[in-house]
Amino acid sequence: MSKQTTWSDRFESALNPAIAIFNASIGFDLELIEYDLTGSIAHAKMLSKTKIISDAEAQQLVSGLSQIRTEYQQGNFNPGIEAEDVHFAVERRLIEIVGDVGKKIHTARSRNDQVGTDIRLYLRAEIREIQQYLRQFQAALLSHSEQHVETLIPGYTHLQRAQPISLAHHLLAYFQMSQRDWSRLEDVYKRTNISPLGCGALAGTTFPIDRQYTAELLEFDQIYENSLDGVSDRDFAIEFLCAASLIMVHLSRLSEEMILWASQEFSFITLKDTCATGSSIMPQKKNPDIPELVRGKTGRVFGHLQGLLVIMKGLPLAYNKDLQEDKEGIFDSVKTVKACLEAMTILLDEGIEFKTSRLAEAVAEDFSNATDVADYLVSKDVPFREAYNLVGKVVKTSIAAQKLLKDLTLDEWQQLHPAFEADIYEAIAPKQVVSARNSYGGTGFEQVHQAIARAKSLLD
Ligand code: ARG
Repeated sequence: MSKQTTWSDRFESALNPAIAIFNASIGFDLELIEYDLTGSIAHAKMLSKTKIISDAEAQQLVSGLSQIRTEYQQGNFNPGIEAEDVHFAVERRLIEIVGDVGKKIHTARSRNDQVGTDIRLYLRAEIREIQQYLRQFQAALLSHSEQHVETLIPGYTHLQRAQPISLAHHLLAYFQMSQRDWSRLEDVYKRTNISPLGCGALAGTTFPIDRQYTAELLEFDQIYENSLDGVSDRDFAIEFLCAASLIMVHLSRLSEEMILWASQEFSFITLKDTCATGSSIMPQKKNPDIPELVRGKTGRVFGHLQGLLVIMKGLPLAYNKDLQEDKEGIFDSVKTVKACLEAMTILLDEGIEFKTSRLAEAVAEDFSNATDVADYLVSKDVPFREAYNLVGKVVKTSIAAQKLLKDLTLDEWQQLHPAFEADIYEAIAPKQVVSARNSYGGTGFEQVHQAIARAKSLLD
């Protein structure tokens, strides 16, 4: 068996082939290659600035690394399993391209601080991308909101009709959730953007490196204070997965509502053909596959968060190979969150239509204006609890008589309480009920218009 080349002469035989496959991460960490090259270029420049290598040597390294980038971008860099991981793959190719000077790239560096650098550079870029996706999702919510300030929809608590609300108000609740998601990522970014480069394997290095310089070249805001912490910290990744999980929670809640709304029982929205699917057996069906998939994909992102927490909880300092297991969950979460945000944005932009006449019917056919009858009496100086009990009674008798509150005669109202006057009908009409909830952050139209204006200025 031929000896593999990566290790020192301490090793006399190559890895067992099955173990080589088991040990390798090249099957998934090639995703990091652009960041690995960028990190190595900064490292090479730092080595020459500090005179650890000559300027000419650094130039050769940088041009070799740039060539690998081109090869990769053109589809001509496809390392196999023997490379073990992206870091070895790049180093090996660099030596092929520039010769012996390539063997200097790994001076004063370890794969431990290298992989930590790569994953931070990757996540930093992806956080910015996801924030963009969030902005587009928010814009889609906002555009429906602008069209539907005065469209009413039943508002629920316990999934029981509670009080009618403005449809825009309902959608803007998701806008606010997404706004928190956006700013949570902003926060995670700060703790992601710290450089571990120069922490070495665990203890720093004997060479006179300049960590501040590589951090500046790579646009990190800070450097890790402690080398052990620098190579073994994955808090930022856990925080990211937590932020990603919350994005999925929010998308999944909206998905659940859309699935309900599209059902015959609710019938609040129609799914357009470009965003709905049919059944292979039941020709009448139109299925909400997009929100169902989003709701379903939420599980894997939660799983990756749990996975990384468990990976970390028992790790002694500093680097342990367990950390190689951080990557697939992070990559999959990034892809899943982006795909789900994109799909939900498309669904909002072109895939659904609110059935406004059905919604108008829905808010008029129930007792969700009962609170407003009580509030009416309170405005005529009846104490709230007394009014509340009275309205409870009238709801009960109306249900028995198969009547809605709007169907009671003025006589019936006045028998209930002499304070009722003819303006009770206006006070309990759905539009009025909604418009009257004009407290800050409430569903009153005036409030909703203001909320839309604030949301718009956030996006600008
Ligand atoms: N592929 C490894 C990882 O993903 C790179 C670091 C390896 N370091 C080590 N000491 N074996 O974590």
